[in-house]
Amino acid sequence: MPELAKRVTQTSKKSYGMFAKAAGIDDPARDLIHLELGKPFHTTPPHIVDATVAALRAGDVHYSDLAGLPEFRAAIATKLRSYNKLDVEPSDVIVTNGLTQASFAAFMALIDDGDEVILLEPYYPQHVGKIEMAGARPVFVKLDAAKGYAIDAAAIEAAVTPRTKAIVLVNPCNPTGRAYSREELEGLAEIARRRDLFVIADEVYDHIVFDGIEHVSIAALPGMAERTVSMYAFTKAYAMDGWRLGYLTAAPKLMPAIAKIVATEVTHVNTFIQHGGRAALEGPEEILAHLVEDDRLKRNLVVERLNQMPGVRCPLPEGTIYAFPDISASGLSSQDAADRLLAEANVVVESGAFYGPAGEGRLRVCFGSESPERLTLAMDRMQSFFNTI
Ligand SMILES: Cc1ncc(COP(=O)(O)O)c(C=O)c1O
Repeated sequence: MPELAKRVTQTSKKSYGMFAKAAGIDDPARDLIHLELGKPFHTTPPHIVDATVAALRAGDVHYSDLAGLPEFRAAIATKLRSYNKLDVEPSDVIVTNGLTQASFAAFMALIDDGDEVILLEPYYPQHVGKIEMAGARPVFVKLDAAKGYAIDAAAIEAAVTPRTKAIVLVNPCNPTGRAYSREELEGLAEIARRRDLFVIADEVYDHIVFDGIEHVSIAALPGMAERTVSMYAFTKAYAMDGWRLGYLTAAPKLMPAIAKIVATEVTHVNTFIQHGGRAALEGPEEILAHLVEDDRLKRNLVVERLNQMPGVRCPLPEGTIYAFPDISASGLSSQDAADRLLAEANVVVESGAFYGPAGEGRLRVCFGSESPERLTLAMDRMQSFFNTI
């Protein structure tokens, strides 16, 4: 048999590793509590489902505009202007199959063989595989746990070489739960402007910020719109993970290249679900606020309980649906702790080291994927486990 393509054999499994792992350990005979995948607990709000079903029944089942339905792109542009403070026209928007396709299109359109792409570590693993598939080399800049995983402009600067093409920014950050301040983002933006780099900004959690913290989109900073691809999805905040619905925006001069990848790959996103996306954006704002408040309460529950466990210290996440507790005082490595929690406590969490060595000594615990009752049970089990360590 001829050989498989190098883009498959020479790229890491990080893109889909978590899904494979979650599927592999499911055992109906055990009452496992899954806190490893960022899968929203709620079902999609009914008005979104209704709009989609109505479009389907009305026969909106045919090929459509490559970049997305015009009225949907107009609603997205309105959201980007009001919430993200981006100066965007509907023509600057492309609808994608979740953020996953948006980032694939961005990497494929902007990154070449031999380029280097900087990721802040702990990083979101899916981006690594895409950078490798684009033929580029991921370059990891370790953020310091002791400094709360703040953006470290000096460390980024030191990693820039003549081959550097882009910096990947995940804000709010999966896995650390940080929502970066304007000052931190300005430090990164200044390097991008001065060294003439793209920024590929994954803002899938833009709505999930707590305690009045403002989400700052890096493309809204001076001089950044022309070099940033900003990417979003309905996945997390609207509990629409299975819908596979997202979007991106970038400067007009970048759009034809990105559109070419999207159109080549999937033609366009499923027509009738775009009506659901529009209903999400134009529907009652209280629904979104309620879902985020629910995440905030569950964050408080989990963080408070984690901080009561011996050897565990958990900072309060500013955004996302993840706690990232430090378990190093327990003496266990991240992987050992995750393995033993699965084997001995029937709680599935992810090892912090999965997000790169800067995550060693941490666990990633998703508080968005379960009910308060199941989270309480999971915390009881984790408490018993750490009591014995
Ligand atoms: C940082 C980040 N980016 C992208 C994704 C994937 O988003 P989507 O399901 O919209 O493709 C996730 C999902 O967990 C994520 O945490």
